[in-house]
Amino acid sequence: MSTTLITGISELVTMDPAHGPAPSAATRPHLGVIERAAIVVDNDAVLWSGPQSTAPDADEHVDLGGRAVIPGFVDSHTHIVFAGDRSREFEARMAGDPYDGGGIATTMAATRDADEPTLAANARSLLTEMHEQGTTTVEIKSGYGLSVADEVRMLRAAATLTPETTFLGAHVVPPEYRDDRAAYVDLVSGPMLDACAPYVRWADVFCEPGAPTAFDADESRAVLTAAGKAGLGLRVHAGQLGPGPGVALGVELGAASVDHCTHLTDADITMLAEAAPDGPVATLLPGVEFSTRSPYPQARRLLDAGVLVALATDCNPGSSFTSSMPFCIALAVRDMGMTAAEALWAATEGGARALRRTDVGNLRPGSRPHLCVLDAPSYRHLPYRPGVPIASTLEL
Ligand code: NIG
Ligand code: FE
Repeated sequence: MSTTLITGISELVTMDPAHGPAPSAATRPHLGVIERAAIVVDNDAVLWSGPQSTAPDADEHVDLGGRAVIPGFVDSHTHIVFAGDRSREFEARMAGDPYDGGGIATTMAATRDADEPTLAANARSLLTEMHEQGTTTVEIKSGYGLSVADEVRMLRAAATLTPETTFLGAHVVPPEYRDDRAAYVDLVSGPMLDACAPYVRWADVFCEPGAPTAFDADESRAVLTAAGKAGLGLRVHAGQLGPGPGVALGVELGAASVDHCTHLTDADITMLAEAAPDGPVATLLPGVEFSTRSPYPQARRLLDAGVLVALATDCNPGSSFTSSMPFCIALAVRDMGMTAAEALWAATEGGARALRRTDVGNLRPGSRPHLCVLDAPSYRHLPYRPGVPIASTLEL
């Protein structure tokens, strides 16, 4: 297998404890930064990194002319398999309508009407958009089919695009079950889970007792417990619309991640801190707060309490139709009090932890050779140059 030496790297972020200066307040967590660096990769793995002056030979050579290289972004929460358009819903929201998840039914109807190749093609084009902006690992959820056949179709399409697939049959109660929620929870925890399990690694629930169509603690526990018994890892949409039992449930059931965390109680933060670092990662999705005009999550309190934080796009047609991890980093720094280093860690290593992966989100030897190159000298330019497409995946 041929090897490639990449030089001309002004700043290489490895996330490797073996590299870089001791972290200061501004650069904590430890990013493993090497200045004037080089890296050697083959098709499967990072082989070596270090100062360019000590670089070994390789079969091929690429010079980046003084640009920064970081690990490819890990977008650990997306809903990119869907059909239809909800730009008018967004327009109405900007004119004052609240976001309550009611539009999920609009996407469900359009998704049920679309054939599987169309669903796969829609998702593939969003995946390409993500890849072009430096994202190299993407989690994809179902949740717009909400029948056995339609959830299977969504997940079969998703599984052609990523190994990080998530069953979200418990997204909302579909209209045909509105008068019999218990029957829908039984369907999701039984026949729908059985049919979807071959295509997924994870299961998720929209746990939101204040929203009439989402799921309360008991309903969510029933679905997640069944999914756990089926061998799936667990994730929770928690505290998006208001404070609720989602975080506590995620901690109780050993979920890999609790996502949104827009509304957290003091007890939620204490629980997450006590469960860290092996308990759920708090995955923050600031594109949602931006696109729904909600208050941003208390990232600073989570970080100061020692909770592991990830950043993801939540790319979906309703609450956050962005595919851009750099945009989320910019929001996290501008509006959530995270340092550039914390936001970069959360968008790479943090996402990997939320997916319980050690081979992505970092550039340590043996990890996947997923490189994101910045048209800038430093990762600090990610929040400094908002909206400017400086990040791209390095194709070798
Ligand atoms: O993560 N909260 C539930 N699900 C998605 C939004 C889905 C939609 O509005 O279509 C979310 O925000
Ligand atoms: Fe979501």
